[in-house]
Amino acid sequence: MKLSAVAAGIAGLTGSALAQDSVPVTDAETGITFQAFNSADGVSYGIALPVNASAAGGYDIILQVTAPIEIGWAGIAWGGGMVYNPLSIVWPNGESVVASPRMAYGYYQPEIYEDGTLTLLKGSGANATHFKVTVLAQGFSSWTDFDGNVAHLDGSAQVRFAYAYSRTPVDDPASVESTFSIHDSVGRWVHDLAAARSAEFPKWVAENTLPSPPCGRRVVAREERHPVVPRLRDSGRRAGAAARA
Ligand code: HEM
Ligand SMILES: *[C@@H]1O[C@H](CO)[C@@H](O)[C@H](O)[C@H]1NC(C)=O
Ligand SMILES: *[C@@H]1O[C@H](CO)[C@@H](O)[C@H](O)[C@H]1NC(C)=O
Repeated sequence: MKLSAVAAGIAGLTGSALAQDSVPVTDAETGITFQAFNSADGVSYGIALPVNASAAGGYDIILQVTAPIEIGWAGIAWGGGMVYNPLSIVWPNGESVVASPRMAYGYYQPEIYEDGTLTLLKGSGANATHFKVTVLAQGFSSWTDFDGNVAHLDGSAQVRFAYAYSRTPVDDPASVESTFSIHDSVGRWVHDLAAARSAEFPKWVAENTLPSPPCGRRVVAREERHPVVPRLRDSGRRAGAAARA
């Protein structure tokens, strides 16, 4: 496996003194301005944060991943490595998409990350050439690390992330709990999170929140036009999230 460091620092373009690999881009569909990293494989990872996101963690994140339809799954590791940090994995499912919160406890199939919720927002879907996933990510800026300590994503800094993707489709695209096979490629980059912060964050969430699914329908990942994908299990910490709508 190749661990390709992303060397193409574009700090010169942004005027930043430090080498980092993200640029601002506004998504026309949602009106959200993301700080985005475009990987060499054509997968883009856009991040938007609340204006007060800091080293204390605990804040929500809007993540937008756009990928060529040939990609089976793509993911971001919020702590910059595969294991003991939250992962957000996305894949296409027909004309819809699925976003799955995971954590890996070794170099094998990551499990569902019980303390995280990925809620699909407007700006999510798949067509003949690409899939695009826009999610409100809750529980991804603070987590428990390998030593059992609380780790935080410093929303005021330039932060090292890792990505992974595979061209092989996941085993059960309709299920947020689907298993999938190992990556074809992994890489790392430096993301300017300070520049990802905006006072418009609450407005962006409000304007792009999808209607709740009808009562009694628990898992909506299978319903193409109700692309709300809560985590399936209840950790007790986030009771009442979209999973129960
Ligand atoms: C079935 C799923 C997966 C399997 C079997 C798997 C397996 C592995 C293995 C064997 C390595 C090499 C470890 C070494 O070099 O010693 C590795 C590295 C890596 N994997 Fe995975 N992986 C999976 C899913 C993922 C996912 C979903 C992500 C992130 C979104 C990811 C991110 C990485 C990264 C960044 C590395 C580089 C080393 C590190 O950061 O720890 N992997 N993986
Ligand atoms: C950030 O601001 C929001 C909205 O004003 C507030 O709800 C939240 O508690 C603040 N978070 C932190 C970590 O200060
Ligand atoms: C397919 O989706 C991508 C990503 O959202 C978008 O850029 C592209 O314009 C879409 N193509 C068509 C034909 O709508």
